[in-house]
Amino acid sequence: MLVLQLRELFLKKYRNYIDLELSFHPKLNLIVGPNAQGKTNILESIFLSCTGRSHRTPRDRELIQWGSEQAFIRARVEKQTGTSEIAIRLHAREKKKVLINQSPAARLGELMGHLNSVLFSPDDLKLIKEGPSERRRFMDMELSQIRPRYFYYLQQYNRILNHRNNLLKEIQKKPSLTSTLPVWNQQLAEAGSFIILQRMHFISSLQTIAQEIHSKITHGSETLTLEYKSSIPCNSGNIEKIRDNFLKILKARQDEDIESGLTGKGCHRDDIVFQINGMDVRTFGSQGQKRTTVLSLKLSELEFMFKETGEYPLLLLDDAMSELDTGRQEMLMEYIGKVQTFITLTDMNHLPVLKDRSKRVYRIYSGNAVLDESLSF
Ligand SMILES: Nc1ncnc2c1ncn2[C@@H]1O[C@H](COP(=O)(O)OP(=O)(O)OP(=O)(O)O)[C@@H](O)[C@H]1O
Ligand SMILES: [Mg+2]
Repeated sequence: MLVLQLRELFLKKYRNYIDLELSFHPKLNLIVGPNAQGKTNILESIFLSCTGRSHRTPRDRELIQWGSEQAFIRARVEKQTGTSEIAIRLHAREKKKVLINQSPAARLGELMGHLNSVLFSPDDLKLIKEGPSERRRFMDMELSQIRPRYFYYLQQYNRILNHRNNLLKEIQKKPSLTSTLPVWNQQLAEAGSFIILQRMHFISSLQTIAQEIHSKITHGSETLTLEYKSSIPCNSGNIEKIRDNFLKILKARQDEDIESGLTGKGCHRDDIVFQINGMDVRTFGSQGQKRTTVLSLKLSELEFMFKETGEYPLLLLDDAMSELDTGRQEMLMEYIGKVQTFITLTDMNHLPVLKDRSKRVYRIYSGNAVLDESLSF
């Protein structure tokens, strides 16, 4: 028995849906249709019900149907403790309203306790393909959610870094100011060593789960490793040592930093390295390997949330399967059997592994969804 289930979803004037009512299968839901018909819009509205935000845009206005003033989203959720209802009203000129069981929520954070989800979207491939700042953003977002102190230190760090960089530029014009640098170095190393240590722990526990999942999906043929790669020596895992190394490096690079007016080393330069069987995925990985790596990472997030809340979140897979071979698809489906899953795809025939499974299939056509009775059972 799955503990958390999205039973029904109602959309009014949301994106290209005028008035939509869907009821879902407890395990597997397929949302099938050609491009630009509204498949992702459905996943987006589910994600919105979980977090209060869209994963595609920070501007709620874009979610409201063109020519309308308001949009409504209502989700009926069933869990061990009973049913609950989440309702969101978006308005073109007013603040959005979130109601949980008919009572207004003071903060969006309250939604987290009612409905959680993990979403995979094609955009997540950026995590592998793009530069280190994407990967730092990933760590910072995850860690800030689970550790409020991390968020505090991160803000501190960025503030100090900014000050230090401004000071470096001033020193270029007025060298006597150099004597004020050590105070900033000390503070930067203080906050920075905390951040580095937290990120190292996070990546190492994520790797334990992700490695196991990745190995399952690839029938044991690929070993995924994640490594936190810092510009500050940190293998000791000891915060005082990391802080001392940080200080040493800032001192040693002082002239270079002054010349460039920038702090060249520190956790704002760090990265995560993904390897498969010892090979750098970013440089040498195939499309399918990159996709599998991100999926393994997302699925480890699922396990994380389970650990934190005792409940598996919903799994939303937007166009996740298209570059995976049948073997990988099969293993992925086997793995996700324990959570309620929503998958978008353009053609049922692309996923032969889903044919015989108990599921519900919705056909999407320009803002209309029709239950495909012949495939739903
Ligand atoms: N605010 C809005 N009002 C009305 N229609 C909108 C709005 N925002 C987006 N759309 C329409 O929604 C459609 C896109 O929906 P969606 O992104 O869900 O497509 P999709 O089925 O996931 O396509 P693909 O297979 O290409 O990913 C487009 O036709 C777009 O014009
Ligand atoms: Mg889409």
